[in-house]
Amino acid sequence: MENLFIIDHPLIKRDLTYLRDKNTPSSTFRVILRRLTSLMAFEITKDLELLVKEVETPLEVTQGYVLKSEVVLVPILRAGLGMVDPFLELIPEARVGHIGLYRDEETLKPVDYYFKLPKNLDKSIVIVLDPMLATGGSICTAISYLKAKGASRIKVVSLIAAPEGINKLTTEHPDVQIYIAVLDRQLNQRGFILPGLGDAGDRVFGTEN
Ligand code: PRP
Repeated sequence: MENLFIIDHPLIKRDLTYLRDKNTPSSTFRVILRRLTSLMAFEITKDLELLVKEVETPLEVTQGYVLKSEVVLVPILRAGLGMVDPFLELIPEARVGHIGLYRDEETLKPVDYYFKLPKNLDKSIVIVLDPMLATGGSICTAISYLKAKGASRIKVVSLIAAPEGINKLTTEHPDVQIYIAVLDRQLNQRGFILPGLGDAGDRVFGTEN
């Protein structure tokens, strides 16, 4: 799978352990999710193209750079919201779209409830953010929508993925680059990733009870 990148780093492995721990409270979970996303963002953005632009130092003119393409961040609500700020710290000029989806607990199919995207998706690098890639239904729905709106250069950033979700995503959207921190073992009958970390949205926002 040439478009699947598993980012292997000791600090990422350590932080994933905090996120997996059922005793990690939401306040800590949010902080770790941000830090982990920052660690991944450096790798995810390393192929962004540059344009040369002159810059005048206090001493002389020299060669500098600006990003060639605009970047659009698209968190999938809710859990993806926890990954936006670390990217904005690195790319403050990025624009942010939102896609609202939740998974029906019975059918495991995604139900959409909100779409708000910037224009010019066709000229942008679109980075989709969602910490969990389980059946892959949510991310595939989001990508189909983004492509229908003109996006063609799409990266997906997830922390934990199940093999079932990766298979669906690479089959339906082989052109999309997928970045994850770990590929977990399997889904259970309720569509939860094993060993996973539970429901990321609930853990970010403290709504598990
Ligand atoms: C979770 C997760 C993904 C989706 C993954 O969201 O954050 O968006 O499920 O599952 P899939 O790959 O099988 O589609 P959830 O539906 O729980 O919504 P929430 O973020 O609002 O809690």
